Amino acid sequence: MTVRVDVTRARDWPGRVAGLLAERFARNPRAVVCLPTGSTPLPVYARLPVELAARGASAGGATIVLLDEYVGLPAGHPGRCDATLRRVLVDRLDPPPARFIAFDVDAAAGDGSSIARAFDAAVASAGGLDLVVLGLGANGHVGLNEPGTPADAGTRVVDLAETTRTAAIGYGADPPPRRGATLGMAGILGAAEVWLLAAGAHKAAILGAALDGPATPAVPASLLRTHPRLRVLADDAARPGRSGPDQPA
Ligand code: PGA
Repeated sequence: MTVRVDVTRARDWPGRVAGLLAERFARNPRAVVCLPTGSTPLPVYARLPVELAARGASAGGATIVLLDEYVGLPAGHPGRCDATLRRVLVDRLDPPPARFIAFDVDAAAGDGSSIARAFDAAVASAGGLDLVVLGLGANGHVGLNEPGTPADAGTRVVDLAETTRTAAIGYGADPPPRRGATLGMAGILGAAEVWLLAAGAHKAAILGAALDGPATPAVPASLLRTHPRLRVLADDAARPGRSGPDQPA
């Protein structure tokens, strides 16, 4: 299968991705869109309100679904993914999205499987995922689907890789949690459309492995290549020498 790879100059990349996202909300005002935290999408989220306004669109009818969450941090902790996505995007959208679905990791009786079941039920009741947007982890993970995750892995609570725990400290999750809840590979691959974001030279090697190496659970992002509507949105530092958007939208 040919993967659609859209490479944009680094300075144009946030506007390119935000513009495509705004277009999805313009085309489908009730879209159900799963979004990541992490540093990659930050400039995209900062730009999104402008791109929505430019199209006379809003996310006011949309459902935003959080891709993953740390387990073990108290509610309201600024390093939690739910608090982060609210801060960097959801609370900046005017009007706010109709619905924000996150993992209820605070439920008193919430063992891993009940957290996953409640999340999947909420997504199903919203109508299923129209689009999943993913950052590319330095170890090849997507969401918290760490190396070794097979394509049929469902929504679940997982043990975090050491590199993921180290990265969590940088996102304010300190002390770093040992576990996390994540949309599984099966849920990602079951979405109508999947976008993989990669920006910066530090992502070039792992993006190369994901796109050009074998499709293997050792690099979970490589498993995305089986999706018929995968789109890779990279800047020219993460995908050097391959400049140029594939198609306008
Ligand atoms: P980053 O993280 O966007 O901060 O590079 C991506 C990830 O680990 O999923």
